[in-house]
Order: sequence, then structure tokens, then C-alpha cells
Amino acid sequence: MSYNLLKGKRGIIFGALDENSIAWKTAERAHEEGAEFVLTNAPVALRMGTINTLAEKTNSEVIPADATKVEDLENLIEKSQEILGGKLDFVLHSIGMSINVRKGKHYTDQNYDWTHKGLDVSAMSFHKLMQTLYKKDAMNEWGSIVALTYMAAQRVFPDYNDMADNKAYLESVARSFGYFFGKDKKVRVNTISQSPTPTSAGQGVKGFTGFMNYAEKMSPLGNATALECADYTLTLFSDLTKKVTLQNLFHDGGFSNMGVSQEIMEAMEE
Ligand SMILES: NC(=O)c1ccc[n+]([C@@H]2O[C@H](COP(=O)([O-])OP(=O)(O)OC[C@H]3O[C@@H](n4cnc5c(N)ncnc54)[C@H](O)[C@@H]3O)[C@@H](O)[C@H]2O)c1
Repeated sequence: MSYNLLKGKRGIIFGALDENSIAWKTAERAHEEGAEFVLTNAPVALRMGTINTLAEKTNSEVIPADATKVEDLENLIEKSQEILGGKLDFVLHSIGMSINVRKGKHYTDQNYDWTHKGLDVSAMSFHKLMQTLYKKDAMNEWGSIVALTYMAAQRVFPDYNDMADNKAYLESVARSFGYFFGKDKKVRVNTISQSPTPTSAGQGVKGFTGFMNYAEKMSPLGNATALECADYTLTLFSDLTKKVTLQNLFHDGGFSNMGVSQEIMEAMEE
């Protein structure tokens, strides 16, 4: 169902790799809600992925940008404003990558070059993105910036590895930069802490299926899907949430406030 929630709004969506990506679903839903936007991803991901299908479907252009490179971000933000015909109302940072996770390197045996790279891609890129938007004064007043995160920033999930630290940094940047964006530009900045979701990044985490099934059984409403995450993100881009900022918002079917559920108790008694 469409509510025209984003009619007349312009934005940039990072991170649509394939149709499972949370950013992909967000782009589809944002289009249905009347938004116009530019899609972006790292050049290597554009070669591997199928983003052009999404671009056609949503009537949008694709601009490559490695989110760790400030010059790429500058180019992206300038071109996007030219294409869309003005300043931006929303930006989605839906980016995550850990080489330690990908290569099965244990948390107690990090390759620190990989740790640095993962931090840059998954977390510092959010600062770089916001600093570039801020310096270029590219956001409209009452605009909204959202990044996606996971609860391993607050609690221990052993196989989430160095991504836990990256997410803690990301959430902190949202608050710290969100202060200046709020005071100086009336722009809100939030993170959405999403349930485990079967995407390319999600499935890269060791033991992902067990992890997902456990969360499903623990959450009174069950895990939130990528499409449901897209819907929630749109509310934060809309004018209905203008005073929500500096928040880490759990979108997880209630998982984050659970101690134990009946299903898990029963499974442990077997
Ligand atoms: N899938 C989950 O279980 C889950 C749960 C909570 C939060 N998240 C977060 O959601 C976000 C989106 O991930 P997803 O699950 O949709 O997986 P995904 O693999 O579809 O998306 C990750 C994206 O990051 C992009 N990326 C990697 N390096 C980049 C770079 N240098 N520059 C620009 N883009 C780059 C990839 O190309 C890809 O499009 C991530 O921040 C992820 O950590 C995912």
C-alpha cells in the first residue's frame, strides 16, 4: 500500500547490491511513496550486482562511489543534486563489510589491516558521508539521515566479530554528528538496529541460520524482514518523525528487551 509519504522528497540510497539487500527494498518502497533518488554503491559492487534493474524499476540514476573515499562522496553529492534538481531530504547508509568475518578470522586473532578496512567501510564512511553533506550544505532543513546497525553494538554475539565494534562506532557517530546536524541544519540523524536478515552481508556471518532462528523464537513478533525495515526507514524519512534524532531505534520484533521466551525455555528442557 502506498501513502505518498515521500512525495516531492529527494535522496541518495547507498548499498543496494541485489534484491535481498535492505537498501534494495528501501529503494522500491521509497519509489512507491513518491520519492526521487540516486542509487549508489562501490564500483566493484556495481560490476557484480544487478543494480541497473532496480534503477530502471525506480526511474533512478546510478552513481558509483566508494564510501571510504571523500572525493567519490563529493562527486556523488554534487551530481545527485544536479540530477534531482535541488538539495537532499534523505540519505540511507546501508553499508557493512568485515574482511575478518569474510575470511573466518577469529576475533581473538585479528588481521589488523582487515580490521582497519572494515572499520573504514562500515563505520567511518558514515562520518565521511555526513561531513561531506554538511560541508556542502547539501541537506534541506528537516531532512533525515539513517544508517543501519545491529544489536551486537551493545551486547555480545561472538561470531559477529569486529563488526560489533564497527557498529558501536557507527552508532556513536550518529549521535555526535547528529548533534551538529540538528543544531546547525535542522537535520535528524538516527540508526535503525535491525533483526538478522538473510542478505549477502547477513549470511556472511558464521552460524547465521542458528542466529536467525534463535532471534525468531525469542522475539514476540518474530524477526523483522528487509521489507519491514524498508517501511520503518521510510517513516524516518517522512515528515511524521521530525523531532526524532540521535536515536538508535530497535526494529527487531521485540528481541532487544527479551530475557527468555517460552519457545527457548521449551527447547532447553528437551
Ligand atoms: N543482514 C542483517 O542481518 C543485518 C542486520 C542488522 C543490520 N544490517 C546492516 O544493514 C546494512 C545493509 O546490509 P544488508 O544486510 O542489506 O547486506 P548487503 O550485502 O545487501 O549490503 C551491504 C552493502 O554494502 C556495500 N558496500 C560494501 N563496501 C562498500 C564501499 N566501500 N562503499 C560503498 N558501499 C559498500 C555492498 O556493496 C552492499 O551493497 C549493513 O549496514 C548491515 O550491517 C544487516
